[in-house]
Amino acid sequence: MLNDQTTNTHLSLAPFRGITHKAYRNAFARHFCGIDVFYAPFISGTGTGRIHPSKCSDIMPLSDGSPPVIPQIISNNATEIISFGRAIYRAGYRELNWNLGCPFDRIANKRRGCGMLPFPEEIEKILSDVFTADIFRDRAMRFSVKTRLGYRCPSEIGKVLEVLNQFAVCRIVIHPRTGEQIYSGKADPEKYAGCVGLSRHPLVYNGDIVHLAGYQALQTMLPGQKEWMLGRGALINPFLPARIRGREIAAEEKTGKLRSFHEELWTHVRTTIPREQQRLGAMKAIWHYLSGVMHNSKEVFSLIKRARTEKEYLVAVKTALEQRLANDQQIEKHFRCLTEK
Ligand SMILES: Cc1cc2nc3c(=O)[nH]c(=O)nc-3n(C[C@H](O)[C@H](O)[C@H](O)COP(=O)(O)O)c2cc1C
Repeated sequence: MLNDQTTNTHLSLAPFRGITHKAYRNAFARHFCGIDVFYAPFISGTGTGRIHPSKCSDIMPLSDGSPPVIPQIISNNATEIISFGRAIYRAGYRELNWNLGCPFDRIANKRRGCGMLPFPEEIEKILSDVFTADIFRDRAMRFSVKTRLGYRCPSEIGKVLEVLNQFAVCRIVIHPRTGEQIYSGKADPEKYAGCVGLSRHPLVYNGDIVHLAGYQALQTMLPGQKEWMLGRGALINPFLPARIRGREIAAEEKTGKLRSFHEELWTHVRTTIPREQQRLGAMKAIWHYLSGVMHNSKEVFSLIKRARTEKEYLVAVKTALEQRLANDQQIEKHFRCLTEK
């Protein structure tokens, strides 16, 4: 049940490469409520010709029961973006998200992701070409952007928003960190507030939303903000979207949901990943965040991390799921440990 204050709120789940893959998104939608749309992790190197199906296995086929998903591309090549846009349009998607935020060197050094932010004229050139393609020009396919304040300097966003204002972009997700911060330190919602008056497009706030009180503080700081993207806060505590929507869930029910969520993911991993160590790696990446929903997250994660076989892993998970759930302070502590340099 949505309360009055939150019916206007739009919540999305941020993309996380290596974590929020199709099976994760499906399981999340099935066991936890409150997310309106899921952004799929970025796809890159799709090329300008026929796209190899393996590149798109995370988003295709789009089946009837899938939760709403927005595919994302990292590219600095307009032809590649158009060709990917056409392919996902044929598959049934109606929005493409362009990643202008990935901070990792191997991406940013090649002027992709946030590495493009110091070069607004290049962004302009790419968008001029992208918007000559009929699907984008006629808005059959919406085009959104996910970005940061800048690569090295938070003021870079000003020129970038000026460029984006010239095009029919449907929304801009802003994570108010610079690329150099990667995901550490603190997000800067005040700098985000400074972007609001600079853009003619709807903006989506993304960064450090960890619990209801933090979300409410951001609401006060950003009056009129309707669209929010949850990231690590929801990976740690998948009940956060429901909480924001005013839905309280009893502790016993939560544990049951976590158990079914894990069971579904584990079944998927066991049936799709052939090697035991890779299966464990995939699950440990999820627990890196999810362990934070337990009151003793450090112990829980270190037990899971130490598991060298599936048998050990399942024993560690059983122990994890027997723990008391964390309160907001403990969740915040887990989050802050993740953001320490
Ligand atoms: C492991 C990892 C993988 C990520 N993968 C993507 C990605 O594929 N695309 C993207 O736009 N952002 C990606 N991000 C960034 C998140 O979507 C999000 O913007 C970031 O975590 C900030 O939000 P938060 O402070 O609420 O976590 C990733 C972040 C991490 C830590």
